[in-house]
Amino acid sequence: MLAVQSVQAQPAYKNQNEPMEHRIADLVGRMTLEEKILQLNQSAFGENLNPNNRSEKVGDIPPEIGSLIFLSEDPVLRNEIQRRAMDKSRLGIPILFGFDVIHGMRTVYPIPLAQACSWNPALVSQAAGMAARETKLTGIDWTFSPMIDIARDPRWGRVAEGFGEDPYAASAFCVATVRGYQGTNLSKPNSIAACLKHFAGYGMSEGGRDYHASDISAQSLWETYLPPYEAGVKAGAATLMSAFNDISGVPATANHYLLTEVLKQRWGHDGFVVSDWNAIEQLIAQGVAKDRKQAGLKSFQAGVEMDMVDRAYSDYLKELVDEGKVSMDLINESVARVLRVKFRLGLFDQPYTTTVAESERYLQPVDKIVAAKLAEESMVLLKNEKEILPLSSKIKALAIIGPLAKDKANLLGCWSGNGKEQDVESIFDGLASEFGTRLKLSYARGCVFDGEDESGFDEAVAIASRADAVLVCLGEKKSWSGENASRSTIALPVIQEKLVARLKLAGKPIVLVLSNGRPLELQRLEPMANAIVEIWQPGIAGGTPLAGILSGRVNPSGRLAITFPLTTGQIPTYYNMRTSARPWGGKYQDIPTEPLYWFGHGLSYTTFKYGKATLSADKLTRAQKLTVQVPVKNTGTVKGAETVFWYISDPVCSISRPGKELKFFQKKEINPGETVVFSFEIDPQRDLSYPDGKGKRLLEAGDFYIQVGNQKLTFELVENLRSTAAVSAAAIGSQIKAKTVKD
Ligand code: BGC
Repeated sequence: MLAVQSVQAQPAYKNQNEPMEHRIADLVGRMTLEEKILQLNQSAFGENLNPNNRSEKVGDIPPEIGSLIFLSEDPVLRNEIQRRAMDKSRLGIPILFGFDVIHGMRTVYPIPLAQACSWNPALVSQAAGMAARETKLTGIDWTFSPMIDIARDPRWGRVAEGFGEDPYAASAFCVATVRGYQGTNLSKPNSIAACLKHFAGYGMSEGGRDYHASDISAQSLWETYLPPYEAGVKAGAATLMSAFNDISGVPATANHYLLTEVLKQRWGHDGFVVSDWNAIEQLIAQGVAKDRKQAGLKSFQAGVEMDMVDRAYSDYLKELVDEGKVSMDLINESVARVLRVKFRLGLFDQPYTTTVAESERYLQPVDKIVAAKLAEESMVLLKNEKEILPLSSKIKALAIIGPLAKDKANLLGCWSGNGKEQDVESIFDGLASEFGTRLKLSYARGCVFDGEDESGFDEAVAIASRADAVLVCLGEKKSWSGENASRSTIALPVIQEKLVARLKLAGKPIVLVLSNGRPLELQRLEPMANAIVEIWQPGIAGGTPLAGILSGRVNPSGRLAITFPLTTGQIPTYYNMRTSARPWGGKYQDIPTEPLYWFGHGLSYTTFKYGKATLSADKLTRAQKLTVQVPVKNTGTVKGAETVFWYISDPVCSISRPGKELKFFQKKEINPGETVVFSFEIDPQRDLSYPDGKGKRLLEAGDFYIQVGNQKLTFELVENLRSTAAVSAAAIGSQIKAKTVKD
């Protein structure tokens, strides 16, 4: 009898057997306005190492708070805070703990820009899944990642955090990352909630200056900046973060069109939006609110459900409701959205984090293997004159020089979670373990990252003179990219360029190793180097993968996900620009027009020969599909992975379309002498249509090009096929699988 009574007394929201929406409605129905408003607030707990954001001391965190940014590595402390929320608040609503896990928690993976250069979404997804496990065991349920802002101005420091210049590639890596974090079910033990950020247009901030206004036409918004968000929402991303910037005059954090009409009404997102740090109060600086109260009103009405650290909602929402400016319906809907994410995460049923010893939580052998594999696949061989790499057995002594040769901290890159310098393998250590006694390694720093001190040059030149080849490890400090870390030039500081010029005098082959968070201006360095390997900021495990590339154990397979302009003055340069009215004109007087390395560039130790590409038909209707194939042969002597990029262009359309647009990519390993057939099925609705300024997709009949390697094939989208009997119905729409052909 007693047991029956207690079951009956259990409120529906606490009953795991009730449908989730019923639990949410039951809970919202029991909450006071004050309790509801607290759910819409996030405070920061602990010391924030981000110099741009100072957290206040959160003396007495109300146990009813919706969320905390947990700036601590202690899951026991997290559980204590959670226990207060569960036991001391009237309704026992769990707190949602968030943190910036951008490319790993303690096992730090390569920066996202590097990850995209792997062209291996499955591997990226695996790394995100492993980061989720470490994150969850730290007590964090929610990461503010992935950052999917398309960035075409590498002066902007946050270019490091995203997946490069192309909307399709960013969408693919966004989906991979979301799936990695969230798994198949958010309530599984190792899943965390993703947060797509910064919605939207942040990557376009003027002059590459952080927090600045973005002037984006409706056309580019839909064509370039929104696709990764739509893909992430479709992949089930639980939350989004509104951006700092304004978009053509309307701040993203007060943007009803984006946050409500597009995200919620059109895309049907049922999770919630959190503001970026202080983005609500910043509406005052942006000139659309006179005070914090009005700022809170504007962002809440626009569709920001959670206030990150601003306290505008906790201070003013009640007043705004009492004054009739904010409806209870909107409050209830917003609270329901926050609670939905908590229910999905299973926090009501399992509010506490499993606590395991630090040695089991972090840096497990498998984490390190995946970190090294991802680093390996994201490194890009930019130049390899006379096949100087891999280093031949004639090279017996290698001089390793440069500020990054023994550096550890900077290889972590920006936003490196709880990563520690002590976990990082340096370039020098990676080489030492790869080459053992086979190579005599010598080291001199030569110079530091910047400044004018050339006092180390002589020693560097001396060891270079005694060696058979010189490895110069240059690049950026991790603080040079990330938030509020824009640079007016993307060249390396003069001191680093001077070091190479001096080393050149030693007359030995020079292999340049670059570690940086953005594309670099290499106009002066490139001619001095015989080979260049871009290793980005590889995280904890970059040394061995690089050493593998130098020794030949690893055949490099990374390809650039962002263009390297020749000089800063060429910015913006990206592959999918619209074609110029005078393609032969529009040149600079003083520099070439071509960038140094285009999107997609990257060399291998083998050669791939593309055979003739074929289409299953040369005409199709809107309802049909077309398969295009290309055989690719490894004509070299070592195994290698080739990424095939499929681009489409529409030469005649009602509006000017980009010169070409990536629509599909695939990376496969090919053995020497083997031919692998790559294929792509063109779906007109998905691949040939384009959005207008309202996001409506238009599909116009006419000729299209499909481009693969250096081949360009024409096909036609027709209204009906009756007049064009040439098309074989059997061929159209049949999914031809990639075949492996042995010669
Ligand atoms: C950044 C966000 C980050 C947030 C919380 C902000 O300054 O713009 O990307 O998620 O801080 O740390």
